[in-house]
Amino acid sequence: MNSNCDKTPAKNSDRQAMSESKTEKKNPVRASAAAELEILIRARYPIIYVVSWEETRVEHRLKEIADRRKKQLICWSVTTGLTKSGSMAPSRQKGLADPVEALDSVIENKEPAIYLFKDFHPFTRPRESNVAVIRKLREVALALSDSYKTLVICSPVVELSSELEKAVTVLDYPLPDVSAFDRLLARICEDVAAHAQLKISLTPEDRERLIQAALGLTLQEAENVFAKTIVTDGHLSAEDMSIVFSEKQQIIRKSGLLEYYESTTEIKDIGGLEQLKKWLKKRSLAFSEKAKQFGLPSPKGALLVGVQGCGKSLCAKAVSRMWNMPLLRFDMGRMFASLVGSSEENIRRAITVAESIAPVVLWADEIDKAFAGSQGSANTDGGTTARVMSTFLTWLSEKQAPVFVLATANNISQLPPELLRKGRLDEIFFVDLPNAAERGQIFQIHLRKRNRNPKGFDLSALVQASEGFSGAEVEEAVISALYDVFYKGKELETEDILGAIRETVPLSRTMAEGISALRAWAEGRARFASFRDEVTAAALRRKLEM
Ligand SMILES: Nc1ncnc2c1ncn2[C@@H]1O[C@H](COP(=O)(O)OP(=O)(O)OP(=O)(O)O)[C@@H](O)[C@H]1O
Ligand SMILES: [Mg+2]
Repeated sequence: MNSNCDKTPAKNSDRQAMSESKTEKKNPVRASAAAELEILIRARYPIIYVVSWEETRVEHRLKEIADRRKKQLICWSVTTGLTKSGSMAPSRQKGLADPVEALDSVIENKEPAIYLFKDFHPFTRPRESNVAVIRKLREVALALSDSYKTLVICSPVVELSSELEKAVTVLDYPLPDVSAFDRLLARICEDVAAHAQLKISLTPEDRERLIQAALGLTLQEAENVFAKTIVTDGHLSAEDMSIVFSEKQQIIRKSGLLEYYESTTEIKDIGGLEQLKKWLKKRSLAFSEKAKQFGLPSPKGALLVGVQGCGKSLCAKAVSRMWNMPLLRFDMGRMFASLVGSSEENIRRAITVAESIAPVVLWADEIDKAFAGSQGSANTDGGTTARVMSTFLTWLSEKQAPVFVLATANNISQLPPELLRKGRLDEIFFVDLPNAAERGQIFQIHLRKRNRNPKGFDLSALVQASEGFSGAEVEEAVISALYDVFYKGKELETEDILGAIRETVPLSRTMAEGISALRAWAEGRARFASFRDEVTAAALRRKLEM
């Protein structure tokens, strides 16, 4: 088996190169990047920046184009300097590992050629030590526009100093699609067939599921994981899905943006918010095959806007249990805290991975914070952040896969109008402070959670005293009272909780203005998550009329 797998890369390259061009005809979406690369080269774009993790796939594609157009393909990396594609021996010519010298040689060469510079991003990012390379690249752009030479930079991240923005064309090279994995699996099956002791037992359905499970991996990662499963137990079957899945968890972890969230929250742990619960319950079967047959589209998602600590995140956690779907937490905030250069690639990968394990709930928590980062992005990061957000918004409106996006936000002023427009999400819910009845339920939930029988407490006194409290503040009052009585060595009573309530200044008092502005915004624009208590509604009406 091993010898067989070891041999594969060489064979692989020819097959991959062939297959890429076949795909062009079959798959217009995937073809566009591979085909566009050739179009850009033919149109003599001097510098093309290909964004991809898959250097080998890009190199194969370029080799194919170079052969067809009778050009040489010359590769550069910091360790090998300039080498002809396919030649294993590194060029030992002095200076050619130096980026400026290498770029000089690109200008000087008179032959038609495609140059592939691998992992060149450390030299194109805005940094003082890169001044010479950046300047040289601009000279290359000028010199090459009138030649039969093209410089292709391939890197998993886009890092471009602003001086280069006009000189360089960025092209995204997407991850392999179903047909690429299909071919990979076919080749593996062929190789394995030569070994009697190895077995592949896949029904057409299993095969489809395995390929689906591999979506979101690079071709190399998929090949590794398939090889791993065969080497482990001597065969490849539907059971190996779990290995593919664990490979994917690795990616989820590495991407830093997605996180598997093991939710233990159930819908009964949420007090109030009955309208929202009803809406969610109605959609619990909407992802099934039966629903599809019935003519129902998969729900797209919902946005929960509202006051802090009132159960927005709690609902996201409960929904995955209710629908029996995995929950992926999408940390939008972290996307911008890290190096922005890699964000575009990261968000695309996050989306592909989420789609590949669909049906899934994608929980985009505190989405307003991420959007806040995108404002003024043109001045701070060359517009990367804004581009990332628009990638996300475009995906939201075009997505076909059953990925239910549950977004939460506190601050509506930070949200772009595109997000609020109908069509992107199914519904916008406004989560207000809990009314009296809801506070009663929340007290009961949190008392029970701490092994206290709510019947032993004067709930109406607690509800009355906690007017204006959020769910989180109600919970906090119970916990803080428990600390008090534990210290005093006595059992918890109503009076202890009332004491804790008296000591709390609720957010609704310190942030009264913000909350009424939020309510006024929600009126007519969002659906209320709770059945509204008449007093609040009347107060709001009066305010609006003034
Ligand atoms: N309606 C509720 N029912 C039961 N518990 C609640 C409710 N609302 C809030 N809580 C309690 O408060 C905690 C915080 O709530 P949650 O994280 O859902 O707030 P949030 O609306 O997401 O706030 P933020 O806007 O600050 O993120 C919950 O973990 C839960 O224990
Ligand atoms: Mg929250």
